[in-house]
Amino acid sequence: SIDESAVLANGKINNMINLDSPKVVDSQKLQSGEKAVFCRCWKSETFPLCDGSHVKHNEQFGDNVGPLIVNRKKD
Ligand code: FES
Repeated sequence: SIDESAVLANGKINNMINLDSPKVVDSQKLQSGEKAVFCRCWKSETFPLCDGSHVKHNEQFGDNVGPLIVNRKKD
C-alpha cells in the first residue's frame, strides 16, 4: 500500500514506480485506430497505463486526478 503521509513529507509524487531509476520515462507507439489510457496519478499497478487506481486515490484524499486518453486516428 501507499504511505501518502510519506509522499507529502518528502515532496515526492512517485512513491512506487521504478524507484531505483533516476527518471521514469515511457514511450509507446499506437497502431492505427488504437486508443491508450495513460496513468497520471502514479498509483497504477500497470503503469504507464491506467488501471483505475485513481478512483480510490480521489475518494481517499479528495483529489481529482485522472488519466490521459490518447486516440490515434485510423490511417
Ligand atoms: Fe493513475 Fe488511472 S490509475 S490515472
